[in-house]
Amino acid sequence: RFEGVPMAPPDPILGVSEAFKADKNDLKLNLGVGAYRTEELQPYVLNVVKKAEKLMLEKGDNKEYLPIEGLAAFNKATAELLLGADNPVIKQGLVATIQSLSGTGSLRLAAAFIQRYFPEAKVIISSPTWGNHKNIFNDARVPWSEYRYYDPKTVGLDFEGMIADIEAAPEGSFVLLHGCAHNPTGIDPTPEQWEKIADVIQEKKHMPFFDVAYQGFASGSLDEDAFSVRLFVKRGMEVFVAQSYSKNLGLYSERIGAINVVCSAPDVADRVKSQLKRLARPMYSNPPIHGARIVANVVGDLTMFGEWKQEMEEMAGRIKNVRQKLYDSLSAKDQSGKDWSFILRQIGMFSYTGLNKAQSDNMTDKWHVYMTKDGRISLAGLSLAKCDYLADAIIDSFHN
Ligand code: LMR
Repeated sequence: RFEGVPMAPPDPILGVSEAFKADKNDLKLNLGVGAYRTEELQPYVLNVVKKAEKLMLEKGDNKEYLPIEGLAAFNKATAELLLGADNPVIKQGLVATIQSLSGTGSLRLAAAFIQRYFPEAKVIISSPTWGNHKNIFNDARVPWSEYRYYDPKTVGLDFEGMIADIEAAPEGSFVLLHGCAHNPTGIDPTPEQWEKIADVIQEKKHMPFFDVAYQGFASGSLDEDAFSVRLFVKRGMEVFVAQSYSKNLGLYSERIGAINVVCSAPDVADRVKSQLKRLARPMYSNPPIHGARIVANVVGDLTMFGEWKQEMEEMAGRIKNVRQKLYDSLSAKDQSGKDWSFILRQIGMFSYTGLNKAQSDNMTDKWHVYMTKDGRISLAGLSLAKCDYLADAIIDSFHN
C-alpha cells in the first residue's frame, strides 16, 4: 500500500542543514537556517536561560499537562511583551492569547482559524516571504496570493507596488506582515510607510496578520521591534499576531510561541479564544511547558529580564558587526564597482544578496557555503573571521 508514496522534496531551509551536515570539507559554512551562532560558530544557549532552568530544577516543577491555552503566566507575559504592559487593550481584556508551537505552530493555528471562520477570505503574503508561509496556508487550505514587496532594481522595498496590491485585494483579506526584520529580505517599511500600510488596510477592511519572529533580536530593543504591531493596535484595529521565542531567547527546539488576537470587545476575545482552543485540542492537545516556564520566569523577574535584554543586545550587536565586516570585505575585494551598501541597509539576521539560483548553487558546490536558493544568507551563522572567505565566494559567484 505504501509503495505508491512518492519521495518528498527536501525542505528549502531545513534541508540545507541536512546537506551541510553531510559535507566533509573543513571550509564549510552553514548560512541556511536562521539560527544564532557564536563567533566560534557554535550554537548558543543564553546564560539567562540556563539560570532560569537551574531555578526551575531546584523548585522541582512537575510535568502535568498544561491547559489547552498554555501556561497562564506565559500568556500574560507574552501579550505584555508584544503590546506593552500598560497597553489599554490588555487592561480592557481585548486580547485572546493562546500559547502555541513557536512561530510555525502559531501561524498554523491561525490559518486553521481563518479557514474555519472566514472560509471566503484570502491571505495575501509578501513576494518574497519565508518559504514556510506558503506551506502553512496550503496545508490549512487557505487561499493566498502575493503582494509586491521586494524591488530588485533598488534592492529595496517596492512600496508603491505593495500599497497598490493591498488596495486591490478583495475587501476583508488577511494581510500577512512581518512585524520586523522581514524574512528573507531584511527590508522593512519606515514608520511613515507603516502608517500608510495601516491606512489602506483600514480602508479596505482587511485584517492585519503579523508574524513576529524577531522581537528584540532585530534592533536589540523589544519596544522598537514591536513598533509596527503597536501602531495598528493603537488605531483600534483588530489584529492577529503570531509570536516566536526561537531567536530572541534562543529556544528553537522548545517550540515556544503564541497567537494573540486583539479583538473589538472582551466577549469577542473570549469567544475567539474558545475557538482557538477548540482547534488546538485535536491538533496537538496542549502545548509544551518547559519553554513557557523559561519565558515566564525570565520576564517575571526583574534581574533576569534585564540579563535577557543585555544578551539580546549582544546577539543583535554581533550580527551587526558581521554585517559591517562583510560589507567592508566585499567593497575592498570587488573590483567591479558594484555597490554593496544594500547589505548595510538590511536588518535582522539575514541578508538578501541578490544571488540567483545558479549563483547560489556555485556558492555551495564550489565554496561549501550553504544557503537557501533564493539568495538569502543568515548572518547569524557567520563569524568575523569568515567574512573574507565569504566575500571571495560571493564575488566569484556573482561575476562568473
Ligand atoms: C528560517 O527562516 O531560517 C527560520 O525561521 C527557521 C525555519 O524554521 O525555517
